[in-house]
Amino acid sequence: MTLSTGIDIAYLVAAVTFILALRGLSSPRHARKGNIIGAIGMVIAVGVTFARPGLTHFGLIAIAMVIGAAIAVPAARLVKMTAIPQMVAMFNGVGGGAAALVSLSEFARYSHHHVAIYKIVEVLLGVIIGCISFAGSAISFAKLQEMMPTRPITYPAQQVVNGVIAAGILALAGLVLATNSTLTLVILLVVALVLGVAFTLPIGGADVPVLISLLNSFTGLAVAASGFVLHSTVLVVGGTLVGASGALLTQMMSKAMGRSITNIIFGAFGAVVTASGSMERSGGGSVKSGTPEDIGVLLAYSRKVAIVPGYGLAVAQAQHVARELADSLAKRGVDVFYAIHPVAGRMPGHMNVLLAEANVPYEQLKEMDIANMELPTTDVALVVGANDVVNPAARNTPGSPIYGMPILNVDAAANIVFLKRSMRPGFAGIDNELLYDPKTTMLFGDAKDMLTKLVAAVEAS
Ligand code: TAP
Repeated sequence: MTLSTGIDIAYLVAAVTFILALRGLSSPRHARKGNIIGAIGMVIAVGVTFARPGLTHFGLIAIAMVIGAAIAVPAARLVKMTAIPQMVAMFNGVGGGAAALVSLSEFARYSHHHVAIYKIVEVLLGVIIGCISFAGSAISFAKLQEMMPTRPITYPAQQVVNGVIAAGILALAGLVLATNSTLTLVILLVVALVLGVAFTLPIGGADVPVLISLLNSFTGLAVAASGFVLHSTVLVVGGTLVGASGALLTQMMSKAMGRSITNIIFGAFGAVVTASGSMERSGGGSVKSGTPEDIGVLLAYSRKVAIVPGYGLAVAQAQHVARELADSLAKRGVDVFYAIHPVAGRMPGHMNVLLAEANVPYEQLKEMDIANMELPTTDVALVVGANDVVNPAARNTPGSPIYGMPILNVDAAANIVFLKRSMRPGFAGIDNELLYDPKTTMLFGDAKDMLTKLVAAVEAS
């Protein structure tokens, strides 16, 4: 077997591990295993690359790897769960930036000779997509880290301006094809960075996780393009997998939010808040609130209880005490399950990750469709820091920003308890009529504090 066949076989093994890793990551049950398989594949791919004939500058490559690892390992270890989206944005951005630089440097090597058009197209794709991803990810990071305003930043004729920048990129790409000029490619790179910034600005902070997933998909495509430039099959396969899975994740997230991807990118969602947040409903009816003691008794004497976690559970870091409450109820013979909405919280799998951290048994987690079958026979739906994902406006109010979003039908339960601090709306900025429903009792307070009081009340019952 020749060296090059050995390298190709190793790359094939790496590509298979990437596919197995994605398969593993599709469920919290085997996500950890999937992650390890992917990491092994990555070690194989990187290791084998050193055996490729013609590779030089080993010292510089080693130094770059050491610096990268010295930054990435502590960053990944120390990052808080709520800051994972920004970390993903940062890692994603540097991937896109690296793909753009690789394409640019390869182009600089062959720009003075006659080059096949398809090779220049590969370079152009790597540079344009990589730069948009890099700059867009940097702005996403700054928004999520609150280093800049998280609300949508808009100005008149914004989409026209973006369209002009995009047209400028196409024109410059045409010029590069016609002239093979490295300088024009560098100008194109700068304009692509500008487009990355410009198209990210109008996207509101809470939509940024969807944007990051989209940019992740772009990075995959940029890496695949740089794989063509470098004749590296593993980069082509790895990049395409990232591109395809990122695109699917983006589509699944926007579908679960009941919005189209164009609405997320061009809609400047979150700019307008229409909620009154009042204790009185305009059409009559007011809010009923209870004490932890009342609710504790209600829960303790129920047969079946659904805990519906949302963004507030993550903010309050109340996952451990939520589990304590579920355990105390289960000890009394109450059938408890967690109803999980796919976009509860602010990142994909947010609730699954939080509850897994608190060692909640997987059997107690019920995805939306299954949970909706259970809710009509549930005595109490305890909604902890969730709002939009249970708001019936998604079913009943055409024109509402969340109309069409599939929701958890907590209104089908016999009793509803909303645990939140106030009447303020959630991410979509709209009132929730369920807070005024005669079946609903509000339990006002921080999720962690109130759940702790509920545990005490259930144990005292
Ligand atoms: P939201 O609708 O945002 O509601 C969260 C509620 O938690 C708020 O009404 C808030 O009310 C309450 N809260 C905040 N801090 C709290 C605390 N310390 N203790 C108790 N309650 C607290 O959350 P959701 O129902 O999970 O819906 C998620 C929303 O985010 C959806 O609109 C979804 O489309 C969007 N989104 C999701 C994702 C992903 S992938 N998950 C990505 C982007 C956007 P108070 O202020 O009154 O306490």
